[in-house]
Amino acid sequence: MSRRNKLYEGKAKVLFEGPEPGTIIQYFKDDATAFNAEKKGTLAGKGVINNIISEFIFKALGDIGIPNHFIKRTSMREQLIKAVEIIPVEVIVRNIAAGSLSKRLGIEEGTPLPNPLVEFCYKSDELGDPVIAEDHILTFGWADEHEIEELTFYALRINDFLSGLFAGIGIKLVDFKLEFGRHYEGDNYSTILADEISPDGCRLWDLKTGEKMDKDRFRRDLGGEMEAYQEVARRLGILPSADVTEIADHIKKES
Ligand code: TMP
Ligand code: ASP
Repeated sequence: MSRRNKLYEGKAKVLFEGPEPGTIIQYFKDDATAFNAEKKGTLAGKGVINNIISEFIFKALGDIGIPNHFIKRTSMREQLIKAVEIIPVEVIVRNIAAGSLSKRLGIEEGTPLPNPLVEFCYKSDELGDPVIAEDHILTFGWADEHEIEELTFYALRINDFLSGLFAGIGIKLVDFKLEFGRHYEGDNYSTILADEISPDGCRLWDLKTGEKMDKDRFRRDLGGEMEAYQEVARRLGILPSADVTEIADHIKKES
């Protein structure tokens, strides 16, 4: 992967120049971070699993008309995506109180919300992705009114779709984070879904047992992260018999 032109390295992914203008290769690392990288670790095979889970979800969202950056998966850890200018606003949708919402407002984890709650955070590692209001977005020019409407509309449609998808495989979609970008074609641009959707950025609870099947296993030192991520992939029907840790070892040896 070092021969290519690296454009950006984030906490869980690396972006390389794509084969054609306007395209990017998104490489999924095994690195895991939490609490704005105060806690760091490596989960062997995570990149492989998140690559296929995100591929599956972005394709399904494309099929129901949610424009997104996914073009195709090109290898175990990589996918070809459309280049976008990332909007520096993280969109969080919550169905059940958990995590920072519970801490911030003193609402017990697990309390169902009467309707999906959409929150915006300013995408800034240094500041710890603080929660912001629409007015902050407008005041600082991070997005305009029309874009905020689009982000909210897409986020709620994605929530409806994913809640049903996960319920169908015995999983509660508690909350998740989305990122969007501006995709330029000539002088025009459109807002499309970007980044990834995987257990790194969602809270997923087993419907029957309540067991956590997402990055909270890492954040809260519960262990069993990869078993949980693999179980999500398996229930989605996208992980055949292959043992992901073996695949990851294989990839390490190759590089
Ligand atoms: P929170 O409870 O920590 O605010 O997180 C809400 C959801 O959004 C949770 O599923 C994790 C996800 N998330 C990220 O993936 N990255 C982030 O930087 C933040 C703040 C949240
Ligand atoms: N993604 C953020 C971090 O890596 C926050 C989190 O997921 O807990 O620090």
